[in-house]
Amino acid sequence: MIKIAFFDTKEYDKKLFDEYNKKYKYDITYLESKLNKETAPLANGYDVVCIFVNDIVDKETINILKNCGVKLIALRCAGFNNIDMKNMVDQIKVVRVPAYSPYAVAEHTVALLLSIDRKIYKAYQRTKKYNFSLNGLLGFDIHGKTIGVIGTGKIGKCFINIMKGFGANVIAYDVYKDENAANELGFKYVSLDEIYENSDIISLHCPLTDENFKMINENTIDKMKQGVIIINTSRGKLIDTNSLINKLSQNKIGGVGLDVYEDEEEFFLNDMSNSYLRDKDLSVLLSMPNVVITSHQAFFTKEALNKIANDTCENIKEVFEKGSSINEVKK
Ligand SMILES: NC(=O)c1ccc[n+]([C@@H]2O[C@H](COP(=O)([O-])OP(=O)(O)OC[C@H]3O[C@@H](n4cnc5c(N)ncnc54)[C@H](O)[C@@H]3O)[C@@H](O)[C@H]2O)c1
Repeated sequence: MIKIAFFDTKEYDKKLFDEYNKKYKYDITYLESKLNKETAPLANGYDVVCIFVNDIVDKETINILKNCGVKLIALRCAGFNNIDMKNMVDQIKVVRVPAYSPYAVAEHTVALLLSIDRKIYKAYQRTKKYNFSLNGLLGFDIHGKTIGVIGTGKIGKCFINIMKGFGANVIAYDVYKDENAANELGFKYVSLDEIYENSDIISLHCPLTDENFKMINENTIDKMKQGVIIINTSRGKLIDTNSLINKLSQNKIGGVGLDVYEDEEEFFLNDMSNSYLRDKDLSVLLSMPNVVITSHQAFFTKEALNKIANDTCENIKEVFEKGSSINEVKK
């Protein structure tokens, strides 16, 4: 029987994987700890470690996993920036769930954008207190605005489609252009600088790589329009948080919606409300009136969770039965 050490388990993971596992009959041990070099020895004697976005698989962790006899790392997500693939050893394969629901993430991006634009978070708190004043709640039409989309893969395209439905003008940047999609959806590829200079709203939908680490920083924000809105549902380290805070304080940036944060690992997806542990920059951002932060929840829909559980179980089956999987991450 294939033995799986399931790291960073939440109640909803266990419920769903137990349901799907009725078909696969894996021997799953659910662990609350995140995987990192300190917790990696817990994988001793397991064939598979199953991990999520904030588990860290660096060179040291890889070597411990290898010595523990682990043969497969099964990611329950699409992004694999948390795995040091350059130092991956031949004895361990890596699989991921490349597409579980681009709609979930694209729709959450729109939710963040509308929350900031129409001040829904403020309105909600006010009306709860029987305050029905509109002062300070003035928004703007998305219709006719220019949206800059960075990364036009599955999620980027979904988001563009929704924005076109709003009647927005969409420009986009990607390292690989999909001209067919541009024609079909009605958007135009431009340079990164043109995105920065012309967009009223910028939304990030590219993976985190060595090349785009902190691509949103003092220099690039300086190129942006006064009052630009920035939305990041992709990866926290695409944005330099210090620059973001500076430019928000100077009113250069009009609003920010974040589902991911540069140093989210210790905080996001956990209830820290009774802990004294605080992150200074995160606290500053949370205190700002034009910033809305959600805790890496863009993927969190019923449809996405079901697809994650199904595809993860299937990926593991494929690797152990056929020796490889279509969802394998190569070095
Ligand atoms: N917040 C969440 O819950 C959540 C959930 C899923 C995915 N994500 C993030 O969303 C990202 C996009 O997901 P996807 O399914 O659309 O991926 P995808 O692979 O379908 O698309 C990514 C696109 O980004 C492009 N790209 C790569 N490097 C780039 C760069 N430096 N600049 C511009 N474009 C670049 C690729 O060419 C590709 O077209 C993921 O990498 C992940 O980081 C977040």
